[in-house]
Amino acid sequence: MSIRLGDIAPDFEQDSSEGRIRFHEWLGDSWGVLFSHPADFTPVCTTELGFTAKLKEEFAQRNVKAIALSVDPVDSHIKWIDDINETQNTRVNFPIIADADRQVSELYDLIHPNANDTLTVRSLFVIDPNKKVRLTITYPASTGRNFNEILRVIDSLQLTDKHKVATPANWQDGDDVVIVPSLKDEEEIKQRFPKGYRAVKPYLRLTPQPNR
Ligand code: BEZ
Repeated sequence: MSIRLGDIAPDFEQDSSEGRIRFHEWLGDSWGVLFSHPADFTPVCTTELGFTAKLKEEFAQRNVKAIALSVDPVDSHIKWIDDINETQNTRVNFPIIADADRQVSELYDLIHPNANDTLTVRSLFVIDPNKKVRLTITYPASTGRNFNEILRVIDSLQLTDKHKVATPANWQDGDDVVIVPSLKDEEEIKQRFPKGYRAVKPYLRLTPQPNR
């Protein structure tokens, strides 16, 4: 069964490079980024995991924990982590789930038999502190993901949750944002957006980013 936006992220208990993980308990009150990759000792995945390790501070600033997954076992993950550290000039600082029995892969629909009937696809889920799935993406095995884009989406989601704004096409942190269409009360709008707003159309109201 595929995972859809708004679903509760399925809970599981599985081995990882950092020991046994009970997923919901491990997430605690944090946001989570759960991402799968096709296999250990593969080039694109090596760069992705190295880059994710370098984003530790960026994730921490947003209260996000990262966790990777493939169907390889723990001993393989541990050896591969040495390679990632060496070649990507970093230290892997998050767990990699060892889903050898495919328990998590089945829960999250990570094996797409028409792409490959044994390897997990390159999927990613952003999960909020209520354990709700807020973003899903699936990339082909041959294309590494853009983790700066993942940070951008998390920034957008956190702004939406806190300030009742949405973010327009290609928005970057600091750009103007849009007031969500459901917010109509002028008093509340004045309180929330003291810098004012520009109504290009009644449904397209731009305002400076509130947390800036
Ligand atoms: C990779 O991670 O490098 C990769 C995995 C499967 C197919 C192609 C590339």
